[in-house]
Amino acid sequence: MMIKKVTDPAIHQAASIVGRSIKLRNVKPDDAGFIVDLRTNEKKGRFISSTSQDINEQKQWIKRYLSSEGQAYFIIEDFNGHPYGTVRMYDQQENSFCWGSWVISAEAPAHFAIESALLIYQYALSLGFERAHFDVRKGNLSVIKFHERFGAERTDETELDIHYSLSKENILSALEKFKKYLPDHILINQV
Ligand SMILES: CC(C)(COP(=O)(O)OP(=O)(O)OC[C@H]1O[C@@H](n2cnc3c(N)ncnc32)[C@H](O)[C@@H]1OP(=O)(O)O)[C@@H](O)C(=O)NCCC(=O)NCCS
Repeated sequence: MMIKKVTDPAIHQAASIVGRSIKLRNVKPDDAGFIVDLRTNEKKGRFISSTSQDINEQKQWIKRYLSSEGQAYFIIEDFNGHPYGTVRMYDQQENSFCWGSWVISAEAPAHFAIESALLIYQYALSLGFERAHFDVRKGNLSVIKFHERFGAERTDETELDIHYSLSKENILSALEKFKKYLPDHILINQV
């Protein structure tokens, strides 16, 4: 009997993923200043891992990222190229991908959060993933609410974090339910 080998999913960087009002664009070394400002913002940095103020260190990190495999780190920007946030895919575990480093500046329109999450899910499905996982700090109530509205299930917890998992079925129903935030066709530009 012939057994058809289905290609395993893998996280690949993309040059850009174009949505309805935002684009996820692969980070570049010149984004270092923006990322440091965003992540060291007192309000925004409360529930994420701490970041050095050193822009040069961030630049080096981005350079290493660009030649690495297994993660995709994006700037969330509008169609004029104005940056509003970041989001990252990493830590593949079989057919599940992790996403995080999700930070959006206070100046961004309210729907940028949901649109960026939907773009990540759509991209992940196109890479062949069947599930997502992520950790959220226990005090991060608005983000907990955000993920639970998508149907994320608690799988574990530590003193600090709640671990979540989201099935493909829930990803697909969120994409359908919130389709007004997406264009008819999402353009994915390869690196
Ligand atoms: C995480 C982050 C990017 C999320 O963005 P956000 O704008 O706070 O997301 P919200 O949950 O407020 O959603 C934005 C809007 O979409 C709406 N929305 C979100 N999910 C929705 C859903 N499932 N259905 C309908 N509306 C939804 C919200 O009600 C909100 O609208 P409002 O502003 O009119 O109330 C942002 O809070 C942030 O930068 N946080 C700091 C960093 C951080 O903690 N990151 C997470 C690490 S795990």
